[in-house]
Amino acid sequence: MKLNNGYDIPSPGFGTFKTPDGEVCVESVVEAVKAGYRHIDTAAVYGNECSVGEGIRQCGIARSELFVTSKVWNTERGYDKTLRACEKSLSDLGLDYLDLYLIHWPANEMQFGDKAAAINADTWRAMERLVDEKVVRSIGLSNFYPNHMEPVLAGANILPAADQVEYHPGLLQKETVELCRKHGILVEAWSSLGRGKLLDEAHIASIAERHGKTSAQVIQRWCIQHGVLPLAKSVHAERIRENFDVNGFELSESEMAEIDSVPDFRYGSHPDTAAF
Ligand SMILES: NC(=O)c1ccc[n+]([C@@H]2O[C@H](COP(=O)([O-])OP(=O)(O)OC[C@H]3O[C@@H](n4cnc5c(N)ncnc54)[C@H](OP(=O)(O)O)[C@@H]3O)[C@@H](O)[C@H]2O)c1
Repeated sequence: MKLNNGYDIPSPGFGTFKTPDGEVCVESVVEAVKAGYRHIDTAAVYGNECSVGEGIRQCGIARSELFVTSKVWNTERGYDKTLRACEKSLSDLGLDYLDLYLIHWPANEMQFGDKAAAINADTWRAMERLVDEKVVRSIGLSNFYPNHMEPVLAGANILPAADQVEYHPGLLQKETVELCRKHGILVEAWSSLGRGKLLDEAHIASIAERHGKTSAQVIQRWCIQHGVLPLAKSVHAERIRENFDVNGFELSESEMAEIDSVPDFRYGSHPDTAAF
């Protein structure tokens, strides 16, 4: 897929949330690259950046062929702390640049009252500086819905390239997707598989059977046909290979509509009420 600054972003992306630091993480990154993944998503708060970096060094593919994302955690919001957080992520990963750096969660009004927008704007100014300093190629947001995103957009010198939000059958994020489309901001789907719990959903399973595919492949295909980049995490080599193999088939309009109508649910926190 393409970002609004001209950079390519490989799809699908490989997730590492809850992947334990150490050998399991190193091996899962190596397996992911072996399976064909070129896009690895991590975050400071996942506590596994050192192992993700080690996996990148061991995978046998040049750094320039890979797309690596990390995120500034909530305790590090604001101008100076964000600059230092990025430095720490780069050092833990053992990299000299990130392809994409995201603000992990917006400061929200529930926690920060009328200071929330100013905190997000300050964090964004630091993100822009990281691009100017060429330590980060693209910058973006995560868990920003229109009410968090609009004040950032109003003061931005660099448009966010991506917004990574919880997105899967049952959570279509229509308003956020619409605002992102208007600004050419790529939507990335976290928990695209519903943390594995969507894989037994009856409609999805029956569509998968019809195509000779698995539910995980159908869900990610559904994301891609909606123009959304899916992220999926696994620490098992067989599942990693399965999750990467999402091209070479097409869902019909009626199958897309059927998956669109999976009942609403959300696994993660809502950005307006997240208290962490
Ligand atoms: N920006 C954010 O706030 C945010 C929040 C959450 C996640 N993310 C990113 O998005 C990525 C994906 O989200 P996620 O990790 O929450 O959930 P997910 O990818 O939807 O689901 C992961 C779960 O599904 C299982 N699984 C994966 N593939 C499978 C398959 N083919 N068959 C059966 N089970 C399978 C995994 O188990 P095994 O590992 O045991 O195979 C794991 O328990 C994360 O890893 C992270 O990089 C970002």
